[in-house]
Amino acid sequence: MLKSKKKKAQKLQEILDSLDVYETPNIALEQYATPPHLAAQWMNIMAENTGEVEGKIIGDLGCGCGTLTIAAAVYGAEMCVGFDIDKSALEIAQRNKEDLELQNVDFVQCDVMDLNDSRWHKAFDTVVLNPPFGTKGNKGIDMMFLKTALSLARNSVYSLHKSSTIEHIKKKAKEWNVTIHPMYKMIFNLNKSYHRHKSNLRDIEVSVIRFILPEANKINL
Ligand SMILES: C[S@@+](CC[C@H](N)C(=O)[O-])C[C@H]1O[C@@H](n2cnc3c(N)ncnc32)[C@H](O)[C@@H]1O
Repeated sequence: MLKSKKKKAQKLQEILDSLDVYETPNIALEQYATPPHLAAQWMNIMAENTGEVEGKIIGDLGCGCGTLTIAAAVYGAEMCVGFDIDKSALEIAQRNKEDLELQNVDFVQCDVMDLNDSRWHKAFDTVVLNPPFGTKGNKGIDMMFLKTALSLARNSVYSLHKSSTIEHIKKKAKEWNVTIHPMYKMIFNLNKSYHRHKSNLRDIEVSVIRFILPEANKINL
């Protein structure tokens, strides 16, 4: 969709800025949208540094209102599929897709935990995710999302995590035989994401991490 390489990231951010996000975020589901500048930077790095967007089939686990799914589609992915458990978030995602007249995007309502042995196994070149961090009583859900992402991807997974959990993630990556490359860090302001002006939620440092599957290592991705 976007042609000029130079202005891609900037243009993408403008498009993402125009998306509708959660009207009444469900805090139990940890619903906060990836900020447009972070999503644009993420997609730019994926596309330009590793060539893992253009012409690729991309999945997005816990897609919410579709920020990352739509970012990948706008950046030239061949097909993008976003999965989320929440019908109202997916209605917003669908509206965003229609407003942008994107043909190469689909959304599926399901529990990500049910996808492991589903027809989506190895269906995607790459899977992206900003998973729930497990701070709302669902301890470990971030790692369950990540494991599912690895089972759906053929080449790589890009996942956003609290930087404080990186050592644990490194151990898991070794156990799962995947190579891990932290891509970049940034500060995530959850207050803004939840549209709460008087909340005492702190800024947290997050990292986008790239996981390369063993099959992909063989072809020198
Ligand atoms: C941190 S938000 C990320 C939203 C979106 N990916 C984005 O980048 O803007 C996490 C999302 O995971 C979804 N979610 C939480 N638990 C889920 C589950 N078990 N299965 C599918 N989606 C789930 C929530 O509804 C929410 O939309």
